[in-house]
Amino acid sequence: MQLIDGKAVAAEIKREIAKEVEEIAGKGGKIPHLAAILVGHDGGSETYVAHKVKACGECGFKSTLIRFEDDVTEERLLQEVKRLNEDPDIDGFIVQLPLPRHISEQRVIETIDYRKDVDGFHPINVGRMSIGLPCFVSATPAGIMELLRRYNIRTEGKRCVVLGRSNIVGKPVATLMMQKGNPGNATVTVCHSRSEGLKDICREADIIIAALGSPEFVTADMVKEGAVIIDVGTTRVPSDKTKSGFKLTGDVKFDEVAPRCSYITPVPGGVGPMTIVSLMRNTLLAGKKEIYG
Ligand code: GUN
Repeated sequence: MQLIDGKAVAAEIKREIAKEVEEIAGKGGKIPHLAAILVGHDGGSETYVAHKVKACGECGFKSTLIRFEDDVTEERLLQEVKRLNEDPDIDGFIVQLPLPRHISEQRVIETIDYRKDVDGFHPINVGRMSIGLPCFVSATPAGIMELLRRYNIRTEGKRCVVLGRSNIVGKPVATLMMQKGNPGNATVTVCHSRSEGLKDICREADIIIAALGSPEFVTADMVKEGAVIIDVGTTRVPSDKTKSGFKLTGDVKFDEVAPRCSYITPVPGGVGPMTIVSLMRNTLLAGKKEIYG
């Protein structure tokens, strides 16, 4: 069994990005600038946004954090999105999700200029990805594909089971795994909460991508000997063993599944760090105007 060290790969990619930013700066080019909008004080969102801002520093990017209280109106938030759309110094920006219930996430996403949508959530980016055109690919699926690429894990012709059908992970990663390319060219099955015979389907899989948000859902009896396991779960489970009072828990019962696998991602330190680095990669592409000119 080989552990897929997302933390180490992410550090390597950040160094590659920082080197490129130095070269851009050396030639007098524009330093990429990412803005993040954070609404409210949700613990998970605070942590994710803090990591994104820190990663910008490590890559040599400019970053701007814009905060609103959770009683901000949708109108005010949309006004800020439109302001960022127009700001020539901002190359890309994100609105951290989830948003308070009185705000339509879809309306916010669709208001973002797709050319600055480094999260890849806008329907234009989602649509372009699904037909294989250049676009901003959302960060978690892009991070998973990059891990498979860097570990030279063969996906062509393999049976890949994706657990979960969310718009930000399950659906896009299924699309990328089935697309022509390397990694890609897999035979993909998407399972979800209504799937019948889910365990049997998993047992046939050469690659399982678990993105359900259901802690320790994947057990050893669901995994074929030698399978590749990508664990996207990051549920904060209360714990009295950590300083923070919670433990980040994946969708895979790691201790019993790991001995059966050829490769497995740990939680934390697997897909998570790659997600942030994919956002950095998208920001670099946005700064260089590489996708949409
Ligand atoms: N909430 C959970 N993951 C994400 C993400 O990738 N981007 C944004 N904007 N919000 C999230």
